[in-house]
Amino acid sequence: MKVVLQHLTKKFPSRNRKVNDEVIAVNDFDFEIPDGKLIGLLGPSGCGKSTCLNLISGLLTPTSGRILFGDDDVTDLPPENRGVGLVFQNYALYPHLTVRQNIQFPLQNLKGADRPSREEMDRRALEAAKLVQIEGLMDRKPGEMSGGQQQRVAIARAVVKMPRVLLLDEPLSNLDARLRLQTREEIRRIQRETGITTVFVTHDQEEAMSISDMIVVMKDGVVHQIDQPQNVYDDPVDLFVAKFLGTPPINVFEGAVRGGRLYIGDEDVLDVPGADDRAVWVGIRPEGFVLKPDGRFTCGLDRVEVMGRDISVVCHHPAATADQIRAIISAENRAGATGQAVRFDLKPRKVHLFDRESEARVPFDGPRAPMDEVK
Ligand SMILES: Nc1ncnc2c1ncn2[C@@H]1O[C@H](COP(=O)(O)OP(=O)(O)O)[C@@H](O)[C@H]1O
Ligand SMILES: [Mg+2]
Repeated sequence: MKVVLQHLTKKFPSRNRKVNDEVIAVNDFDFEIPDGKLIGLLGPSGCGKSTCLNLISGLLTPTSGRILFGDDDVTDLPPENRGVGLVFQNYALYPHLTVRQNIQFPLQNLKGADRPSREEMDRRALEAAKLVQIEGLMDRKPGEMSGGQQQRVAIARAVVKMPRVLLLDEPLSNLDARLRLQTREEIRRIQRETGITTVFVTHDQEEAMSISDMIVVMKDGVVHQIDQPQNVYDDPVDLFVAKFLGTPPINVFEGAVRGGRLYIGDEDVLDVPGADDRAVWVGIRPEGFVLKPDGRFTCGLDRVEVMGRDISVVCHHPAATADQIRAIISAENRAGATGQAVRFDLKPRKVHLFDRESEARVPFDGPRAPMDEVK
């Protein structure tokens, strides 16, 4: 079931008559979530992710705009008639009910002819429990289970009615690091097996990258970029997106383009044919540095951290916006990272330029395929 958002907007009016603190939590969202895909809604806390999800679920009413499931306009339907499954960060299970009863709860609520028989409810609850691999725990109560197990029950409850759309709001945030990894793989598997169109909300870029077919990157209620995870990483549309994705984060410098060359400080560090003269922010991914004794870009060396396969060269530069620059270099190529200064050449594909004012990406002609990179 594809989900279409048409100019969807949600404003929360100002509560105080003296100061206008109206919030546009979701500002003119206009995109389509393809049938059967898992979409990651990604952005910092307070950017409107939950509001967007609650609009799709029907828990909130939009200020303007429409929501369609397939060809079906659901904008005015109450949540229970939309056919959505919801999973929240805090599980929201009924503590006095068993796992079986919790999973069956949405079926118990069905009315008339839609309400399945007892046997059918048992069968479907078991099927959903098997999907999340908790079928051995059907008679337990939530208090007798770990956080990871409780979240599995919540997922089973959300899918037991075979919803048209599955909506997950930071479902892994309460789990410890290992369970978080494991559960996100589970969610991916369940989504693939069931083919239910899924919206997964997270503020964790790594989580969004690893689980999503497509990522919607947003900030302050505005969508910045929608694309496949790798494309968002490789081709960020603006400085915000470039900085939000990637660990360690992208290194940012003040720079300028003059005559087709990129300057950081007074060094011309890279040829950028096709870019107009202007002041820019220069973003260099940690993997975009190549150690070279006669490299074009000179930084002050702080230290080298060994990480096994790679080394991390920690350095500094007066034009950098942060105190530390981090370059990730293959351990075989560490020669040259000694002394006071360290010199690099840059891989053009890993260097992104952004207008100093608008922070929009400034394209330049150059090798964009991995094979063309500086070796
Ligand atoms: N019921 C509400 N009333 C007023 N403002 C709200 C309400 N819900 C959310 N907001 C505001 O809308 C913005 C987006 O919130 P939210 O969707 O919860 O963000 P996220 O889930 O990305 O952290 C925030 O500025 C938040 O304070
Ligand atoms: Mg939220």
